[in-house]
Amino acid sequence: MSRYPEQIKFIYGSKDWDFAQMVVDIFKGVIPKSMLANKSGALVSYHRKAFAYAFSHAFLTLSASVFNSHFRILLQQWDARSRAGNEKEGAFIPALEGLELLGTDVMSQVMYGDSYNQLSSGKRHTMTKDFATILSTLTDGPFNVFISWVKRLNPAYRAANRRGIAYVVERVEKARQKIRGGGEIERVESMIDIIMRKEARDGEGRVMAEDELRDELSTFMFAGSDTSSSTQLWVLKFLSENPSVQERLHDDLIRALPLPDERAPTLDEITPEILPYLEAVVQECSRLAQTIPFTERQATCDTTLFGSNGETYFIPAGTQVFLLNGWATRHQGPDSESFRPERWLDEKGAYDGNRVWSISFGGGNRKCYGHKLALVFLRLFIAQLSLSHFVLPLPSHLKILLLALSASSRSKGLSHSASYSPSISIKWLFLPAPSLPPPSKNDIQLQLLSLVDCRLPL
Ligand code: HEM
Repeated sequence: MSRYPEQIKFIYGSKDWDFAQMVVDIFKGVIPKSMLANKSGALVSYHRKAFAYAFSHAFLTLSASVFNSHFRILLQQWDARSRAGNEKEGAFIPALEGLELLGTDVMSQVMYGDSYNQLSSGKRHTMTKDFATILSTLTDGPFNVFISWVKRLNPAYRAANRRGIAYVVERVEKARQKIRGGGEIERVESMIDIIMRKEARDGEGRVMAEDELRDELSTFMFAGSDTSSSTQLWVLKFLSENPSVQERLHDDLIRALPLPDERAPTLDEITPEILPYLEAVVQECSRLAQTIPFTERQATCDTTLFGSNGETYFIPAGTQVFLLNGWATRHQGPDSESFRPERWLDEKGAYDGNRVWSISFGGGNRKCYGHKLALVFLRLFIAQLSLSHFVLPLPSHLKILLLALSASSRSKGLSHSASYSPSISIKWLFLPAPSLPPPSKNDIQLQLLSLVDCRLPL
């Protein structure tokens, strides 16, 4: 295990280290042609390049409008449930549920051009249920390759996998026909379209084999939806505990952005240059969230590592190491554990990303592939939420009650969010009844929320 910031920085930046076999082993049986199931090499580089347009300004703008429309539905639903709450007691709302549905809805629209529409319908899409069945076969630890193979013999897995393949094949075919049939090569509306456009432009047959495309899209869904909703829960927690941050943020946003009932902000309106404090809050939330508290790397050759006191360790080729990103983030100095967005701003109040070391998206050549998309998602979520809502901490007597509820729903298997994340247990919104006195700012329409803090000690 490596938990010292200097060591982690070194490992991420060194050619002596690559993605670890233990990660590959987890995913190889289910999505063999995806990044997550492969060490660095031709396949990973090719896939990273093939989808690169997804992080262009044009595609991020499109994704921003997908995020905005879904956030709007979620906030409207929270408002409605709050108004329907018990006059005296307020209302408990399972925040995680809505955020999970939102996560898979937005990813399905960005990837396939078709939202699962679960937020509006209130029902989980078959693909979401099938995906959970498929993910339940992933295992780590000793004999995991064999155990996962045995799990995949289950007819429920096979049926879910068949339906998943058919779903992607159908969408790929639809996109191919759209581009070929209508000559709409430049109208890219989804990640599938990106690949189909390249296919039509190059005119040299398939850009990516069907199984590669399918496995990579499944990876994006897996890697992008739970992580985003888990991080949103952390955002709710940090904001609720820091009313002064919310007030400053709200003041900035209300000055720079259109009012929520006019229209949603665009990608170009929420840049770090225009809204430095928003960016500082986004970065500080993801720095401290520990959504993925560790990453893994493997030595590709005999190498050495320096310890915290300058001692040198010999590391034989093949050694696998857990990098404790969460621990390292919180142990860089006396105040590295505190939530302080100002640390990202210079003396003049401008945002400066170089002032702080953050590894919430990993690092090196295998850094999170979707981090640009994730940041747009978080910027817009925090902006939309903070423009119109104020997040209140949960009263302590309710925390105890919710801890019990949270534990019991987990024991009944009701929760299947990012199980590797300590944020799993932060999942309730507290919505006071509308008749309760409003919080500090009178232009904020509604009191929201939150939550149970049960962070796992690292
Ligand atoms: C707040 C949300 C997110 C967080 C905190 C997060 C975090 C991470 C982390 C820590 C890694 C491991 C990186 C490493 O080993 O150095 C990772 C990998 C990855 N993430 Fe994300 N991620 C998020 C959202 C997304 C989204 C939206 C996508 C969609 C495309 C995505 C796609 C991926 C992929 C494909 C990998 C594997 C990269 C590789 O194997 O080379 N992530 N993510």
